[in-house]
Amino acid sequence: MADDDKKKPALRSAAWFGNQDRDGFNHRAWMRNQGLPSHVFDGRPVIGICNTWSELTPCNAHFRQLAEHVKRGVWEMGGFPLEFPVMSLGETLMRPTTMLYRNLASMDVEESIRANPLDGLILLVGCDKTTPALMMGAASCDLPAIVVSGGPMLNGYFQGKTIGSGTAVWSMSEDVRAGKMPLSAFMEAESCLSRSAGHCMTMGTASTMASMVEALGMGLPQNAAIPAVDSRRSVLAHMAGRRIVEMVHEDLRMSKILTREAFENAIRVNAAIGGSTNAIPHLLAIAGRIGVKLTLDDFDKLGHEMPLLVDLMPHGRFLMEDFYYAGGLATVIKALGDLIHRDAPTVNGMTIGENTAEAPNWNEEVIRSPEKPLKERAGIAVLRGNLCPDGAVIKPSAATASLLKHRGRAVVFETIEDFKARIDDPALDIDETCVMVLKGAGPKGYPGFPELGNLPLPKKVLQKGITDMVRISDARMSGTAYGAVVLHISPESAVGGALALVQDGDMITLDVEQRKLELEISDEELARRRAAWKPSPPPSDRGWVKLYVEHVTQAHLGCDLDFLVGGSGAKVPRPAH
Ligand code: FES
Repeated sequence: MADDDKKKPALRSAAWFGNQDRDGFNHRAWMRNQGLPSHVFDGRPVIGICNTWSELTPCNAHFRQLAEHVKRGVWEMGGFPLEFPVMSLGETLMRPTTMLYRNLASMDVEESIRANPLDGLILLVGCDKTTPALMMGAASCDLPAIVVSGGPMLNGYFQGKTIGSGTAVWSMSEDVRAGKMPLSAFMEAESCLSRSAGHCMTMGTASTMASMVEALGMGLPQNAAIPAVDSRRSVLAHMAGRRIVEMVHEDLRMSKILTREAFENAIRVNAAIGGSTNAIPHLLAIAGRIGVKLTLDDFDKLGHEMPLLVDLMPHGRFLMEDFYYAGGLATVIKALGDLIHRDAPTVNGMTIGENTAEAPNWNEEVIRSPEKPLKERAGIAVLRGNLCPDGAVIKPSAATASLLKHRGRAVVFETIEDFKARIDDPALDIDETCVMVLKGAGPKGYPGFPELGNLPLPKKVLQKGITDMVRISDARMSGTAYGAVVLHISPESAVGGALALVQDGDMITLDVEQRKLELEISDEELARRRAAWKPSPPPSDRGWVKLYVEHVTQAHLGCDLDFLVGGSGAKVPRPAH
């Protein structure tokens, strides 16, 4: 054995392919029906390409091609690539919400990895929940892994202007309701929005999570922003295929990259890019799987003072394609200087500081310098008060500034169906000073923690030209959405949180500067209402939904299943029989 070989860690795939006995015969023989020669079983690293391709997930529909580029790189470096499918989560089609299935997909990923002869992983992710689901599952196994995002779509164009995924849909649909846009024009915009392969090209959740991948050090440089159809995305996939083989030899596991410092970097970068509030439950859940202590308050503590440097929709003007041409995430990370742990390791073997040291800024309109930020303070604010003793969040950069301190009369909707039935009723007693309250949209309540928090405004308010109101709920909000929207109220209404006890006419105070969200009723009255409150029956008595509702944690803990927090490593299971 050469000295170099002695240093290499033992491969778990050898337990399948390395034995000259009946089991080894079986493991190899059936694989040979794919036209594989005997030398691929010579002890080389087996790289699993975990693919979320699906025609039901349009954002990931180009992934079979992307996987081929990964394979080229793996073969080049003497690895053995094997692509396998896992549950895919398509944001636009799945009902009631993809978030109901994030943890299920993560279990699929974790168990698929552990049960198979894999030494290293490429995680192909794109649409919102596919990124956290694969990272959570892989983190619980803790093998060497690189995340390859599928890349954003090209800019949308309509009537001579750029339009962004989600963001344009929210504003155009409000314009239709306000009578400012004909329905025919709205329908025409449908074919102008998603005009190439890729995920949403605003700084929504998919782009946010692709940026988190890069900021955490789990993706190669420029993972966040290269458009899906740009040939450089294929090159990135190819290079990831090459690098993962080296990482297996180096035993560079996820736990060596995903340190507390890496998560702190991610939180700060998320603030600087104006990233989605959805990053909160996802980062909390990933941290939980890898054993890093992270809390909701870390997002406020670390992120709130960060300057907003990226002028992208939904809070700004540009789109991901522009972001890439301006320099991409590396430019932002460089601009953040010592606000980032620059010595944090990344998957390419360099530190994040080394990866970004030379990053140019080609367009200071798109990526601002810290001296001329889009906003001085951009991070997510974590609120507390009798309405949310375990926390609630708001993204001040996406809200109307004058509403960040507001006292208003509650108009309560018990469910989203109740909201839809009454919101445009002329008899509904509501105006722009009110606080819209939605219940029943938390992790257990909906079930699944849907993106309903940015409730559409009442038509009669829109018709006055008003575009924002304070809205509070236990729901999430699409990363492409905006407004004075308080989200993730914890505990949620379905478990008897104070949100469940709010009644029409109660006064609510929001004070973001003071981090307060208060229901102005006495403790005695709150206790009286709590004593009278009755939970709804569980939404299902069988299957996944039952398991989910019984075990999902609250928003401030990341909404993982309680028994999935942590990991089981990737010990080789007992032989197949
Ligand atoms: Fe897939 Fe937005 S719908 S990323």
